[in-house]
Amino acid sequence: MLTPEQATQWHHDGYLVLPGFKPAAATAAACRRAAEIVAAFTPGAETGTFSTRDRSRVADAALLASAEAVHCFFEEEACDEQGRLVVPKERAINKIGHALHELDPVFDPFSHGPELAALAADLGLKQPQVWQSQLIFKQPHIGGEVGWHQDGSFFETTPQTVTTFWFALEDATLDNGCLWVQPGGLASPLRERYLCEPTPQGPRLRMEPLDRTPWPGTGDAVPLPVPAGTLVVFGGLLPHYSAPNRSPRSRLAYTLHATCASAAYSARNWLQRSPALPVRGFA
Ligand code: FE2
Repeated sequence: MLTPEQATQWHHDGYLVLPGFKPAAATAAACRRAAEIVAAFTPGAETGTFSTRDRSRVADAALLASAEAVHCFFEEEACDEQGRLVVPKERAINKIGHALHELDPVFDPFSHGPELAALAADLGLKQPQVWQSQLIFKQPHIGGEVGWHQDGSFFETTPQTVTTFWFALEDATLDNGCLWVQPGGLASPLRERYLCEPTPQGPRLRMEPLDRTPWPGTGDAVPLPVPAGTLVVFGGLLPHYSAPNRSPRSRLAYTLHATCASAAYSARNWLQRSPALPVRGFA
């Protein structure tokens, strides 16, 4: 249950920081499971970075297939021209997605339960639909910057309802690439939209510009350094970014993206579900 101050901050700033949302045992189990998934993953032709002839089409296919699977994505520079890993895979991993919350025995219970269902209701998600889960790695020393963006670009609904649930599985600091947000920035328009379009050669993915409103300046950004176990929630129009990790410590985060079932989910969103894996809520 949100306090009145939290409810006010949610509506005014567009984000909330909830320390201690997950107990230490849960974040430790999640970190162990992430390492197990990476250890068990065998890079292959489906990996997406592994084609010299048509990398982007293979990458598109890999992303689309991951909507209903648990798939490891590597840093592009971790592979050579033939698509072979040139660094140890546990150091090359960029993210794992996008159906951990449906298919994984650890991340399914991590992603569901009465606490999350109650929080979603407090945030205004009356009938949440949890479309996506991601383990996002920031590798020590080489973890890259993720520039300003709005998560609404990837989950178009009418009206806009997507809400991000960002769990720190390890301490996120100024040095290892914590989140930065623009408080109140959710009043700005959606600047771009990620589309999946049919072509004779198969579906293609592209970012479409929508609005020329500039991204915030660094002076508008507030860092959110948080200890492991913290949940950061923010609305789909809130501009945010994360800085590179130049520190010797990794920064592992887990995210969920949920929309409201009463809002129309665009057929052009890249992430669609088949009847075999229907989208569900937090309960
Ligand atoms: Fe994001």
